[in-house]
Amino acid sequence: MNIIKVNNYEEMSKKAAEIVLEKLNKIEKPVLGLATGSTPEGLYKLMCEANKAGDISFQDVTTFNLDEYVGLPEENEQSYHYFMDEHLLNHIDIPKQQAYIPNGLAEDLEAECARYDAAIEAAGKIDLQLLGLGVNGHVGFNEPGTPVTSRTHIVELDDITREVNARFFEDEAEVPTKAITMGIATILEADHVLFLVHGEKKAEILRKVINGEVTEDIPASALQLHPNVTVITDIEL
Ligand code: GLP
Repeated sequence: MNIIKVNNYEEMSKKAAEIVLEKLNKIEKPVLGLATGSTPEGLYKLMCEANKAGDISFQDVTTFNLDEYVGLPEENEQSYHYFMDEHLLNHIDIPKQQAYIPNGLAEDLEAECARYDAAIEAAGKIDLQLLGLGVNGHVGFNEPGTPVTSRTHIVELDDITREVNARFFEDEAEVPTKAITMGIATILEADHVLFLVHGEKKAEILRKVINGEVTEDIPASALQLHPNVTVITDIEL
């Protein structure tokens, strides 16, 4: 893994934006994998600004989000659809039909997983996949125990994940128990993975992800198997 050590959140976001914009400008019809969470918010803000300034166009960009809660309508402020609209999609010139997010309200969730995988396959490959890290080592919503061969699937959220994400909801009981997530195999097939990890609370898990053994117990450790991962972090390793 190529590790870029930065001093703080702002520097992480700036460096990430540089890499994203360079990649998008280099490829004719780029496919970008998107993540949610507080980590990429600064990066998304810079991407919106770059689009506004005319430094980048998203007209030919296709995006695939990593995950979505099961059971939250798009209008729910905690849904990842809502998050993406607020932080990125509503502020850039991407045609909305090119921005894919799993549908957590699909009647047939298994069919939705298959549809999502088929859409990614039809787009070719993901040129650049953005990733954050959960404190339990998850990427997307691939919780501990997820095999590296996994494709888009439905997950039962970990108690830790629900606890951590409860900060965005009125109370923990409102946090969905299930989610739909892109699998680890798909993430590993991306051409380049841009892995953003910020803050001391992620230090212990990040060290295990980078220096520990590759294990299903820490899903992000599978990134060690990928030949082109860039980690940008303000954590001292
Ligand atoms: C969420 C998302 C992940 C995200 C992670 C970290 O549960 N499913 O894709 O990377 O948690 O979130 P944060 O960036 O807010 O720490």
